[in-house]
Amino acid sequence: MPDTNIPALIAQLHTILGPRGLLTDAHDTAPFAEDWRKLFPGRTPAVIRPENAEELSAVVKACMQARVALVPQGGNTSMVAGATPDDSNSQLVLSLSRMNVVRSVDPIDLTMTLEAGVTLKAAQMAASDAGCLLPLSISSEGTAQIGGVLATNAGGNNTVRYGNARDMVLGLEVVLPSGEIWNGLRRLRKDNTGYCLRQLFVGSEGTLGVITAAVLKLAPRPNEIELALCAVPSAQAALDLFTRFNRHDPAAISAFEYMSGAGMAFVAKHIPGAMIPFEAAHYALIELATPRRDARLRESLEGVLEAALEDEIVLDAVIAESEAQRGALWKLREEHAEAQKREGASVKNDVSVPVSRVPELLARAEIAAQKLIPGMRMVPFGHMGDGNIHLNFEQPEGANPVEFLARDHDIMDMVGEIVRDLDGSFSAEHGVGRLKPYMMPSWRGGAELAAMQAIKSALDPLGLMNPGKVLP
Ligand code: MLT
Ligand code: ZN
Repeated sequence: MPDTNIPALIAQLHTILGPRGLLTDAHDTAPFAEDWRKLFPGRTPAVIRPENAEELSAVVKACMQARVALVPQGGNTSMVAGATPDDSNSQLVLSLSRMNVVRSVDPIDLTMTLEAGVTLKAAQMAASDAGCLLPLSISSEGTAQIGGVLATNAGGNNTVRYGNARDMVLGLEVVLPSGEIWNGLRRLRKDNTGYCLRQLFVGSEGTLGVITAAVLKLAPRPNEIELALCAVPSAQAALDLFTRFNRHDPAAISAFEYMSGAGMAFVAKHIPGAMIPFEAAHYALIELATPRRDARLRESLEGVLEAALEDEIVLDAVIAESEAQRGALWKLREEHAEAQKREGASVKNDVSVPVSRVPELLARAEIAAQKLIPGMRMVPFGHMGDGNIHLNFEQPEGANPVEFLARDHDIMDMVGEIVRDLDGSFSAEHGVGRLKPYMMPSWRGGAELAAMQAIKSALDPLGLMNPGKVLP
């Protein structure tokens, strides 16, 4: 039924949006229809690019009337195909990229108000220009947009200190599936006035409405930053090192990342200019930062590392001496996803467990993986300081990638079983998207899933907002 409505709807949208607001040429729409990992190739008859919430509101009303589904999309960097249409050629993509204004930054209130299509990198820079810090950093920040970052409750490298995207949201503007605009762009630190609607939309992955603007909480910009890359003998040693930093000065840790020798080797092989200072089976990347001017972070860092070297918790270490060196060391971590993509077919498991159980997770997963598919290469990396590991598996060398990817559910279930046993989650920061709704009944079933379904039907009774995502 929807397909027959689409040409008439597109003509109507053309009137609402004008020529710049609508893409219909297959060549132009193709990049919006394919997810970053190329897991689910999709098709769409049109990409809608509104300039403001009022235009978007008119668009949503028209689509609901025509019973045509909308797929909100930011920078299209989802790891779980959460922002791309299916292959029916009947879902319209809603790109927020033209709504890209940073409206204000307030260094006294420590807030910024910005539109959904601003990239995370641009938002960080605007905050920094005003002497503030937007303490959210993810590998895809140059492309990912604020709307998507909030809709997926992104986590990233600084969660250990500042929490997830959710913890930075003071206010939101959302276009609801009815087409109504909810202006909740408040910037209050305290506001107990009923259900916390903004937190309902954060993490809803565009299934309850479209985030069009936000007020984010900022932090003071750091005056001292120190970064060290360490070779460590085991994942347990990485955890011990984290515990030492935590005991020494927990307020100073802004990131604590884990990488394996396998992942670093992929980065060295596939990323031009990547320089690995030393070869090791396990690595830890530690960043300390503070807005204070007298904190002597360098002394702190060296003190903890020297003791750890003596106790053989650390085997080798390098400390960045400049901003450029900091960038180069961070690149080794941030290019892991890209390097792994270039190496070949991989199955990703974005899982979290209590921080103390990360080493056990890795040890058990390695044994179970070899039992399941001998030769499969485990490439774990990620945010050890908050317990979120990207427990990814690369196809065995020389294996057929299609045959390997056909086992994705077996691999995800194998990891899931261990994660469940360790009281963890099957999706830490990437969300559920289109890849994982089948896991929801066994992980979030019963009253929890029923409540989610009731909320979905109340706000989106026609089920036209990002269908096929999150809920089974
Ligand atoms: C990262 O931390 O680099 C991202 O979440 C990407 C990934 O999991 O591959
Ligand atoms: Zn991550």
